[in-house]
Amino acid sequence: MKFIRLAVTAALLATALPLSALTGPAAAATGEEVIAERRANFKRIGEISDAIKTIVGAGAATAELGPLTRELDERVKRISGFFPTGSETGGGTKARTEIWSDRDGFNKATANIAIETGKLITAAGGSDFAAFGDQYKATGAACGACHRNYRNR
Ligand code: HEC
Repeated sequence: MKFIRLAVTAALLATALPLSALTGPAAAATGEEVIAERRANFKRIGEISDAIKTIVGAGAATAELGPLTRELDERVKRISGFFPTGSETGGGTKARTEIWSDRDGFNKATANIAIETGKLITAAGGSDFAAFGDQYKATGAACGACHRNYRNR
């Protein structure tokens, strides 16, 4: 049966890829598969954030800021799609049950981070590096606000 499920998943992925690439995992994915994908997305978000932090610390804009901020923005916009019903437990997840019991609050937190990363892209295209640093801080605050309410330590 495992083979059949894999084949079905592969077929779905083949047809649904453009959409799933934007919105998250394919509907056929199991809870644990979704959790693995969402953790990988967050892990990459963390790496990008660290890379930007290093550049901010060094005190001068670099050519990587454009691609980094765009990828960050694209990945934070996928967050909400990685928390379907059925992905509450397993896979070492640190997601809190409040994500599902307070979906409006969680959706607000996902909308907030996308606002901040949108501003971060704009700041990366500007010539005021101090303003970029301030916007990086505001972005980090939006990460932390969600973690405080919706992620276990
Ligand atoms: C809307 C809520 C929300 C926002 C916004 C958010 N996170 Fe998270 N983050 C979570 C949750 C929930 C988890 C735990 C996911 C799990 O374990 O299934 C997590 C996990 C992580 C992880 C651990 C990934 C792993 O290895 O398992 C990192 C790193 C991370 N987030 C970084 C960030 C950064 C950096 C930002 C801001 C750019 C951010 N997050 C924004 C909710 C959020």
